[in-house]
Amino acid sequence: MLTTAERARGLADLPPVQSDSLLQLIALCNADPRPDKIDVGVGVWRDGAGNTPILKTVKKAEQRLVDTQETKSYLGGAGDKRFAELLRPILLGQHAADQRIAGLQTPGGCGALRLGFELIAAINPGARVLYGAPTWPNHPPIIQSVGLEGVEYPYYERGQGAIRFEDMMNALEGASPGDVALVHGCCHNPTGADLDEDQWRQIVRVVSERGLIPFIDIAYQGFGRGLDEDAFGVRAMLDACDEVIVAQSCDKNFSVYRDRVGSLWIKTGSAETTATAVAHVFQIARQMWSMPPDHGAAAVHIILEDPELKSEWLAEVATMRDRINAVRQRIAAADPRLAFIGRQFGMFSMLPLSKDQVLKLRSDKAIYMADSGRFNVVGLSDAQIDRFIAAVVEALDA
Ligand code: LMR
Repeated sequence: MLTTAERARGLADLPPVQSDSLLQLIALCNADPRPDKIDVGVGVWRDGAGNTPILKTVKKAEQRLVDTQETKSYLGGAGDKRFAELLRPILLGQHAADQRIAGLQTPGGCGALRLGFELIAAINPGARVLYGAPTWPNHPPIIQSVGLEGVEYPYYERGQGAIRFEDMMNALEGASPGDVALVHGCCHNPTGADLDEDQWRQIVRVVSERGLIPFIDIAYQGFGRGLDEDAFGVRAMLDACDEVIVAQSCDKNFSVYRDRVGSLWIKTGSAETTATAVAHVFQIARQMWSMPPDHGAAAVHIILEDPELKSEWLAEVATMRDRINAVRQRIAAADPRLAFIGRQFGMFSMLPLSKDQVLKLRSDKAIYMADSGRFNVVGLSDAQIDRFIAAVVEALDA
């Protein structure tokens, strides 16, 4: 019989894992039998009836795909190249023709983030990644998973419902050349507090002057002010910087969450360097997922290729955005302490509630939001809005 010291470590030695807080929240809410529960946890768009329907354009594209697709043979590491070409003008605007920028399909925005950070770690393992506090809870683990050091910069003052812009600028001014500045493109997750155009210009200036690598995560384009408006920061960064990385997601604006549709964009100083960077990225992706999944991207491809479907999709994005903003205004008008929600963008805002208050709302009222106080504005059905506001105001009064 081997002693414990002699025994090779096996699967039984694995420590318990603290599961991802947002995924845990989905499970907790699903398990709650109370029929009047309110799910404002994970970020999915819902209509007034509380459903997350498949977009009509996506349904049509999927039908066309079923009718016309002749093979499911491999497409190669780049996945659907036409998908990325069709996204170019939507994301890059006036930079769409710039051959120093390459885009390639990834499994969702999360895949694009991981791939982008893998590339940075391969080039410069000593680079630090500066990210805002707070940020999407999955950013820091992804950064750590590739061995890069993550460093917080102040982003948001919860009590004021405002961006700590000066503090953010000071932190970026203090960064070293080669450090990475991770910035949300629009619809900041978890706060909803977006940089305005003037603030973007200032961030772009400091990033380019300090020689930082801007890494923009844009997962909600079209859910804030509009598709072009929401890409302002991406495009301003491309105006000023030779090296830019962008992780993009179609999961939300095409409502194809579980199909995992995203893309990674790389700009370098020359088309040749970009081609080399892309070759590295393919090699890294080959070791992770080999090739990206096709179905969702193929549906997006069909929609964007067909002018009629594309304009129908633009209208669907506007409908989703309009509901987000209408719910925001309704909550903001209910109480002066919630007015900041009306000045923010995208699915999320962060309530000035302690973790205990959030947990009490969960146990007493079956309201499920993230422990941080982040809630998905558009997770509320029309019928739930007043009850949600009343419960939050009661918690704020307590
Ligand atoms: C969210 O923040 O709720 C979404 O981005 C979903 C996720 O994967 O966390």
